[in-house]
Amino acid sequence: MFEQQLLMLKEIIHNPRDMGTFASSSRALAGEMASALSPRTMKNGTLVEVGAGTGPVTAALLERGVPSDRLVVIEKSPALAECLMRRFPNVNVRCCGAEEMSSCLGAAPPVTAIISSLPFRSLPKSVSIGIMEEVERTLAPGGIFVQFTYALIGEIPCIPAAFRKVRSRLVFLNFPPAKVEVFVKPKPRRAYVD
Ligand SMILES: C[S@@+](CC[C@H](N)C(=O)[O-])C[C@H]1O[C@@H](n2cnc3c(N)ncnc32)[C@H](O)[C@@H]1O
Repeated sequence: MFEQQLLMLKEIIHNPRDMGTFASSSRALAGEMASALSPRTMKNGTLVEVGAGTGPVTAALLERGVPSDRLVVIEKSPALAECLMRRFPNVNVRCCGAEEMSSCLGAAPPVTAIISSLPFRSLPKSVSIGIMEEVERTLAPGGIFVQFTYALIGEIPCIPAAFRKVRSRLVFLNFPPAKVEVFVKPKPRRAYVD
């Protein structure tokens, strides 16, 4: 635990924009992220976590019952990815940028959920846009996108216009307090021809 906190601190000092935080997420915040997944979502397709850090949300996802062989975790920092591989030896951890998500995932089954801790407010806008384009491309129709933000008021930037917000909850047991939002990628409408 102390080792993980120290690693997180080192990363925050060296890459403040990529980290976009002062500390790892609390159990309450990680649990709120994981609670967005329904049993049906957890049992179908691939679930992708992006920006996992030292793994508080990964741990909450596994605790909630996500099968480890359905979970792919993407983390850009090599030191953090290595920590995740050690902490979760049964989970598929990929050290790459979320902006390369589709090539990083390869021929995985359809992605039914993307759970993101990416700091969109501190990343350069062009990077955030590139990542959200990948999210839109990668997520299966009907799939969910879960994101937290420390901005309690206002909208999360760069969410694709077609995505529908279905849940927004505040978590005060975190430093700083955060908001967890859940979006659904719509299914294509059926065209009826007489
Ligand atoms: C706010 S921290 C969240 C860490 C952890 N999930 C938590 O909740 O404590 C953001 C994480 O996103 C990672 N990250 C930043 N940019 C990324 C990118 N383009 N692709 C993948 N991960 C990225 C950082 O290295 C960092 O681990």
